[in-house]
Amino acid sequence: ATPEKKLLRGRVLSFTAEPLDHRDTDAYRYIEDGALLIEGGRIAAMGAYEDVAPQAAGVPVVDHRPHLLMPGFIDTHMHFPQVQVIASWGDQLLDWLNNYTFPEETRFVAPEHSAAMARRFYELIVGHGTTTAVAFCSVHKTSAEAYFEEAARRDMRMIGGKVMMDRNAPDALRDTAQTGYDETKELIAKWHGRGRALYAVSPRFAITSTPEQLEMAGTLMAEHPECYMQTHLSENHDEIVFTKELYPEAPDYLGVYEKYGLLSDKALLGHAIHLEQREIDVMTSTGAKPVFCPTSNLFLGSGLFDDGGLRDSGITNAIATDIGAGTSYSMLQTLNEGYKILQLQGQKLHPLRAFHWITRGNAVALGLDDKIGTLEAGTEADVVVLNARATAAMELRMERAESLSEELFILQMLGDDRSVDQVYVAGKAQKSVPDQGYSPSV
Ligand code: GUN
Ligand code: ZN
Repeated sequence: ATPEKKLLRGRVLSFTAEPLDHRDTDAYRYIEDGALLIEGGRIAAMGAYEDVAPQAAGVPVVDHRPHLLMPGFIDTHMHFPQVQVIASWGDQLLDWLNNYTFPEETRFVAPEHSAAMARRFYELIVGHGTTTAVAFCSVHKTSAEAYFEEAARRDMRMIGGKVMMDRNAPDALRDTAQTGYDETKELIAKWHGRGRALYAVSPRFAITSTPEQLEMAGTLMAEHPECYMQTHLSENHDEIVFTKELYPEAPDYLGVYEKYGLLSDKALLGHAIHLEQREIDVMTSTGAKPVFCPTSNLFLGSGLFDDGGLRDSGITNAIATDIGAGTSYSMLQTLNEGYKILQLQGQKLHPLRAFHWITRGNAVALGLDDKIGTLEAGTEADVVVLNARATAAMELRMERAESLSEELFILQMLGDDRSVDQVYVAGKAQKSVPDQGYSPSV
């Protein structure tokens, strides 16, 4: 059978490098009347419509003008079992975990609940333009099975793992050093590299793992260096104090993960807000990636991520929603809050760098920029179609916009799922009725 082909027409924007500043036009390709030829789930050609169309005689054209065609967004830190935790009132991190999050995660022991929530989770992220996410599942193997089953059904490039946690949590949410190892091993064997899925070894954080469990996690990473490692680091002051009590011999919080061999360029460290100089040096030397979670850091009152300081230390920062402590599934709203967090520190997030960050930037952080995060020929056809006039407020503001950067900034500050007109995953349209908003099917 011939692979299904289609030609998308619209205003194409794809980054080739991180823009140095708002004048850095070398960092991206912007094609006013552009086209993407899609064939067999990949981008076969990107260019001006008049150049690509002759290669695509007889191929159906989907005309998305005047909207923007960009690579699908990449969310590098979220929690699949927290779709019913988002917007839980009142607490900072440790109380929020105990009062809201842990009770909710216990429900994912049931395969039917995990499967039903997985369907809703994927509808939500895709509806917000996210085509790749890195997520923690619950401690239960069933939740990771549901997460990867749904990714396979949708042919999505998704990364995730069963969370490992064997102390300081309710009985129903604890594995053991041995079962956490065994189940992770089984999940890696079944899912890593199956379809587009990739596995992340996922010790929740130092507080919920015994030294024995972190040692097992290190063994897993030594045995599977192709996998990612995700955890949390220095999000909250009480968390740091408790961690130092539990690991009195460690030089600092990151020293715990370092000791057990968890740090490499495959390591994703959620939050990384309150850091000591030695920890920054260790991130620089190991290539571990801090993950900035703006809406979550404001919601839990955690603190202000020092993007500029870490960048100056040669560190590559990723950015993410952190659902369900994060308050929006939208990477656009994540950029909005991220902009404000940088403002509070006298730092700037220019829209060119912002849109690079949630596409190619996060792909680079994951080492996947040859596959996702751009619209280069040969990469996977995950595409988001963005409408900068999706709401009355946006439409009115757009009347006064004079440049691509201004349009992007309007999307960054005012956009959300209403601005996501269509999404393609491996070349397949995800919204059946374009231009009429997103209606999830349960
Ligand atoms: N630290 C450990 N677990 C979590 C979690 O689920 N959410 C956040 N925001 N921080 C954590
Ligand atoms: Zn998290």
